[in-house]
Amino acid sequence: MKRDDLLFYGEYAQKLGEIKTLLLTEIQKMLDSLGTDSETAVAEHIKCRIKSADSLREKLCRSGLEETAESGLKNLSDLVGARVITHFIGDIYTVLDLIKANPNWKVKIIKDYIADMKPNGYRSLHVILTLPFGVGGIETVDAEIQLRTIAMDCWASLEHQLKYKKSVKNSSLIVDELKRCADEMASTDLTMQTIRDLIQRG
Ligand code: GTP
Ligand code: MG
Repeated sequence: MKRDDLLFYGEYAQKLGEIKTLLLTEIQKMLDSLGTDSETAVAEHIKCRIKSADSLREKLCRSGLEETAESGLKNLSDLVGARVITHFIGDIYTVLDLIKANPNWKVKIIKDYIADMKPNGYRSLHVILTLPFGVGGIETVDAEIQLRTIAMDCWASLEHQLKYKKSVKNSSLIVDELKRCADEMASTDLTMQTIRDLIQRG
């Protein structure tokens, strides 16, 4: 963690770091249960992070909540977050089934922005989990796992840059072009899935 994050999270910092590592290990174990052959692996890569102090403060402020780590832990679900990037759309639902079947986790909310994309074209599947770990006096911690294809992830990274740039020239043109790209990528993701199914069926 960066110095600012360590200061902000204070007494919770170390435990949150441990929870992040445990989450990553559990996800890896879960994916390995499908087999470790790299050619058929569903995940391209996995990332785990603790929300930065800046981003947590901003979200707490936006939600009208007290800007402290304790308030974040009690009220928000994405202080600990993971992202599983898959090759194909079908793999996302394979990973979702594994998450649902994991006896250590309790699935709280599933937000399927693939079936129901955001107006800007954002697609991903988010799962909010309650983990069996406590921090300080707080008994359980929630975590958010985002499941995306490589194409969805690439798009979200670019769109994120636009969102956090203060002033961008031609921003309405960029918004339109991003939406067009999102739809084209979604269409290609679907075609890739169909081709894979045809190949696997033999
Ligand atoms: P925040 O958006 O974080 O305030 O949370 P929320 O409760 O509104 O949940 P939501 O499911 O909308 O978003 C959770 C997370 O998904 C975000 O923090 C981002 O990582 C990602 N996300 C959601 N919408 C978008 C989007 O339009 N573009 C990009 N790039 N990422 C998004
Ligand atoms: Mg949001």
